[in-house]
Amino acid sequence: MSELAIIGGTGLTSLEGLEITHRQMMYTPYGETSSPLIHGTYCGKSVLFLARHGARHTIPPHQINYRANLWSLKELGVKRVIAVAAVGSINPTMRPTDLVIPHQLIDYTHSREHTFFTAGLSAVTHVDFTDPYCESLRSQLLATAERFKFMVHQQGVYGATQGPRLETTAEINRMERDGCDIVGMTGMPEAALARELELCYATCAVVSNPAAGRGAAPILLTDIEASLAEGIQHVRQLLGEVIRL
Ligand code: HPA
Repeated sequence: MSELAIIGGTGLTSLEGLEITHRQMMYTPYGETSSPLIHGTYCGKSVLFLARHGARHTIPPHQINYRANLWSLKELGVKRVIAVAAVGSINPTMRPTDLVIPHQLIDYTHSREHTFFTAGLSAVTHVDFTDPYCESLRSQLLATAERFKFMVHQQGVYGATQGPRLETTAEINRMERDGCDIVGMTGMPEAALARELELCYATCAVVSNPAAGRGAAPILLTDIEASLAEGIQHVRQLLGEVIRL
């Protein structure tokens, strides 16, 4: 049984080098997962992999069944989750292809199924979310990152937007005033659901573009894809080491 799961985002719909033992479709009280769960061995260790946007990258951020995804991981005995996510950068020191291990987040999403605590409760429950990411997993990612030459930012505030459209310049300006360093569309409710299930969850964000109004306008999908292709190589190296050690 694998205790570590990787949730792959845009640019990481499969884990190159993963020796697949089997694929498992999961049906949960919340519906189906984005894609079958892939059980396998990566760098000699047992790992579970889940493609957040579906195996063919067809599910947009606001339609991902975050609850089914997280519930399945818990059901299969997972304890730690590394979530890979493409982001735009608001902080100018965070450049395309850099990695960021965020330490905080702000949720701007709406209309998503964002909690497991809905029905049949014996008492109203409020989980602590002061520090939304698992510090021990963050530390492990950061300690491993020291071996590499590519840039890994030790902290950052992740702003989660609703999408699927990108933001306006004014929205990014507001997010900057709020203290956000990076912007993405999948960080919530994923992180909060992981906390509700007491999973140790950390995000490895890969910068794919300067956010709206911070670089060339318009933001082109081709530019995002080109940066992601390089940034994801950094993610693969980092994950390989974290899993191996
Ligand atoms: N905004 C929101 N989500 C994103 C972006 C962005 O600029 N880039 C990658 N995911």
